[in-house]
Amino acid sequence: MNIHIIGGGNLGASVAIGLAKFSSNHNITVTRRNISKIQHLEALGITLATDNTYNIQQADVIILTVKPYQVDLVLSEILSVVKNKIIASAVTGLSTEALQEKIGNDNQAIRIMPNIAAQFGESATCISFHEDNIEQGQKVVKLFADLGTAPVIDEKLMDAATVLAASGTAFALRYIRASMQAGIEIGFDWQTALEISAQTVKGAAKMLMEEQVHPEQLIDRVTTPQGCTIAGLSEMESHGFSSSIIRGIKAALKKIKG
Ligand SMILES: NC(=O)c1ccc[n+]([C@@H]2O[C@H](COP(=O)([O-])OP(=O)(O)OC[C@H]3O[C@@H](n4cnc5c(N)ncnc54)[C@H](OP(=O)(O)O)[C@@H]3O)[C@@H](O)[C@H]2O)c1
Repeated sequence: MNIHIIGGGNLGASVAIGLAKFSSNHNITVTRRNISKIQHLEALGITLATDNTYNIQQADVIILTVKPYQVDLVLSEILSVVKNKIIASAVTGLSTEALQEKIGNDNQAIRIMPNIAAQFGESATCISFHEDNIEQGQKVVKLFADLGTAPVIDEKLMDAATVLAASGTAFALRYIRASMQAGIEIGFDWQTALEISAQTVKGAAKMLMEEQVHPEQLIDRVTTPQGCTIAGLSEMESHGFSSSIIRGIKAALKKIKG
């Protein structure tokens, strides 16, 4: 496929790298105004441009990864030259319906919510689209399934997906940082504490995904009666571990919804 990514920042560059590394042979073009910051993408065979319309007529999928306030300007540049294109937007807060209205009925709007782990083929990319665009939506699903998981969800859950999958990356990293800090307190240097904490989270996530079970089932396997794990869990819970995560996720959602 010919893939055109507009906005080669944190997310756009991550998606481009992920597609170049983990998806089948695509021609990828990435645009932004200051391409000197992403020159390293050229080594992966990715074309860079400052003109958003460069190569766009050949594009099978256009991916929008600019900030919400940059959308109208970008669309005003490309809409006169694109027709019958799939436009997949990762722009926070821009609904499929609002995007479709902006791009007109000549093009098909798909909403995607990847995260920056796309670069490593490990994004959780939630995708939604109108039932009239199932064929185009499935094309986008296929693309992002190469970069991790790509569940199709109801449009009304897209803000929730933003919080759980995109902000969730930061939340998970904060857990790892806290675990690492504790690791330093109990005797490790930071590098070793980080390696152990990150790999332990990766291992826990992998077990869940492979076994498709509820986390408590796996927790039960590592929790000996009267042992150290249950003592640690009880102490964490008495300081609001689960409830602070739930409250944080709900606060983030409240912020998105304004
Ligand atoms: N970061 C995440 O984890 C994440 C996850 C899910 C969704 N999102 C959403 O994805 C979007 C991008 O987020 P981000 O974190 O990647 O932001 P970012 O790092 O600021 O990337 C946006 C990029 O757009 C480029 N840009 C600005 N104006 C442009 C224009 N007129 N034409 C072409 N490129 C232009 C900017 O580069 P120049 O200044 O060089 O043009 C910048 O690199 C946001 O809507 C965000 O809500 C982000």
